[in-house]
Amino acid sequence: MNLNKAIENLPEKGYLDIPVPKNIDLVKEINRLRKEKNAVILAHYYQVPEIQDIADFVGDSLALAQAAAKTQADIILFAGVHFMAETAKILNPDKKVLLPDLLAGCSLAESAPKDKFEAFKKQHPDHVVVSYVNTSADIKALTDIVCTSSNAEKIINSIPKDKKIIFAPDKNLGAYLIKKTGRDMLLWDGACEVHEEFSLEKILKLKQEHPDAKIIAHPESRDYILNIADYIGSTSGLLKYVQESDAKAFIIATESGILHKMAQVAPNKILIPAPPENDENSCACTECPYMKRNTLEKIYLALQYEQPEVNVEEELRQKALVSIQRMLELS
Ligand code: 13P
Ligand code: SF4
Repeated sequence: MNLNKAIENLPEKGYLDIPVPKNIDLVKEINRLRKEKNAVILAHYYQVPEIQDIADFVGDSLALAQAAAKTQADIILFAGVHFMAETAKILNPDKKVLLPDLLAGCSLAESAPKDKFEAFKKQHPDHVVVSYVNTSADIKALTDIVCTSSNAEKIINSIPKDKKIIFAPDKNLGAYLIKKTGRDMLLWDGACEVHEEFSLEKILKLKQEHPDAKIIAHPESRDYILNIADYIGSTSGLLKYVQESDAKAFIIATESGILHKMAQVAPNKILIPAPPENDENSCACTECPYMKRNTLEKIYLALQYEQPEVNVEEELRQKALVSIQRMLELS
């Protein structure tokens, strides 16, 4: 397939469907391209190990947005999902932002379509809108302050007590924040299809087998999982907890990609991924199908041909930028 045809097919395929030469050393080629083109590779903790290992920076959503805000590179290759690359573009209109696979979406971002959210906001005009970073640029443009799981509590607490709040789109994180902050928030009915899947029964069985293990969970998980957790936090919070805790074993209720970094920073600890209800996959763990669309091959092709690119129309970008900048100033 030629390049023009592959670019034409991007909306349907998501990635450049061009054969990668069989005899090349992908890591070497990616290193050459990133140097030649002054590109930076930013990766989320849910990426496959080989992508985390070649990234210039690996982090949670907040740290990645902060890294994108201050990079001097000409090209940002985002090994993550679409809303993350879009946030990087909103912060860097003059840089080229590449996402190896445009179909790397997010069920949470999908759960808040623009028209429905706009109508909901109109019904509650006296509310401050706080949106999780896992949203489209359209939703960020309708938002007063963006947050991530690492700063959500701080952002909610920064809003004057007499103000009413809409929190979107994650109802699980929202319910957790209501408990933590005591604020009465209106919640959008969205959820992460990956974090909603953890099995309470299987986690409790694992706890019986490893009674000294700490249960740790991402706040996108359902309340019955959070209720039994010893620690709740963002991906970077979970990582820090495993590194600093005196415990030897951990049952980890978040996407299993984080176990790679955990094993690097805490090599002597026992890391047990929390299983989902339907664990047909061999790892008995939970994987985000969107995060896992990225591969080294797709990263190589994206750097080589500088496609697929993520762009945001200028008027929308300027509106969405305000709510992201408020978050960055508060973080
Ligand atoms: P973090 O901000 O905790 O890395 O979470 C991102 C995400 O997509 C969780 O599912
Ligand atoms: Fe979205 Fe959930 Fe995947 Fe995170 S794990 S990117 S919230 S679908």
